[in-house]
Amino acid sequence: MIDFRSLKEKYGTPLYIFDANHIKNNISNYLNHFKSNQFKTEVLYASKAFSVKEIYRIAKNMNLSLDCVSLGEMYTAKAVDFDFSKIYLHGNNKSIEELEFALNNNIGYIVVDNLMELEVLNDLCNKLKKTQNILIRVNVGVSAHTHKFIVTAHVDSKFGVMYDSEDFRKMMDIVNKSKYINFSGFHSHIGSQIFDLEAFRAALVKLIGYAKDYNYPLVLNIGGGFGVHYTDEDKPIPFDVVSKTLINTCEEEINKANIKIEKLCIEPGRSIVAEAGYTLYTIGYTKKTPNKEYYFIDGGMTDNIRPALYQAKYDCDIVGKENDIKNHKVTIAGKCCESGDLIIEDYNLPEAKTGDLLVTYTTGAYGYSMSSNYNKALTPAVVFVEDGKDKLVVKRMTYEELIEREI
Ligand code: LLP
Repeated sequence: MIDFRSLKEKYGTPLYIFDANHIKNNISNYLNHFKSNQFKTEVLYASKAFSVKEIYRIAKNMNLSLDCVSLGEMYTAKAVDFDFSKIYLHGNNKSIEELEFALNNNIGYIVVDNLMELEVLNDLCNKLKKTQNILIRVNVGVSAHTHKFIVTAHVDSKFGVMYDSEDFRKMMDIVNKSKYINFSGFHSHIGSQIFDLEAFRAALVKLIGYAKDYNYPLVLNIGGGFGVHYTDEDKPIPFDVVSKTLINTCEEEINKANIKIEKLCIEPGRSIVAEAGYTLYTIGYTKKTPNKEYYFIDGGMTDNIRPALYQAKYDCDIVGKENDIKNHKVTIAGKCCESGDLIIEDYNLPEAKTGDLLVTYTTGAYGYSMSSNYNKALTPAVVFVEDGKDKLVVKRMTYEELIEREI
């Protein structure tokens, strides 16, 4: 149980709160179930979901690998001495600075997204005389949107290359001629907050189909995207089912194709941190209009952009009134100068008064990491709670810090 009231006393609001035991359980669940006797397996944490030193420390201590997508994420991982041989660098437009940083820190894999990137990387490897393992991000033509998936040649995506394309052939030419590039395998990521296991299976079958064309065992990375529970509309697939389905599919398909693979990887972000996260707010004013009742909170789209950006739905409670009759249909609105700054619309809650605390659930992924300082809001603090003890993980921004880089 998290004592929201005492956390408010100690740290103020808005406040991001994480249940560290929950995060660790999620990680253990993946590690325990995503295993095969036929090939190596690797679980990467997709750190874009929530990227702070503390989560990299947890990943490091639990032996997870990492998906980083920028110099900023690699830099944060380096700050806690994360083993770079366990990092995969993603991104469709990696800068030379990012590639050099990765090479100089002996990163495990660079996931090359397009032809031009491979040309630049090859030149850099030649210049620095560095050997580098790469995966190529392929566009498998499976696109999944939450509950449905479709198989189409997604030729116009900004990510990845089509396996049978001209660009792909040119990339293989570079690989074959290069002294320093080791082509290790394929990566695919079909989308996020997906509930349809068939979509992942379809993508994996595609990757194995490509792997048949090589006469040595490849690394296959099937990406992340496993859905979580925000509201009762969402029916996540349990960790063990996701893991076992992918492992079984892979084993069956490689046996059918009579090939071996080196390693199968997954890279979940959201499903490791989302449900472990809570955001705590204080209710300020309330207001009734002819058709609506509002509870105004001291945060909003600056700490959770997802409702405004994706019409994402959340559940919430008034702290201490969780079991009261929920007979007020209210809209929870943030404090930004923006009509769309609504965190939850038309939701049944008990009557609340100024000073009550409101908690939103499942805010651990893409909340803090997509926060902004719009209206010069301060980035909230982040607190981890573990075995009943709380620990400050990110300090609340101060007004001095807010303008410190401004000249
Ligand atoms: N791997 C790659 C290459 C990715 O692009 C992503 C997410 C992941 C792994 C992790 O996916 P996850 O397991 O977290 O679904 N901001 C959006 C989500 C964007 C996801 C981007 N890529 C949101 O708030 O819903």
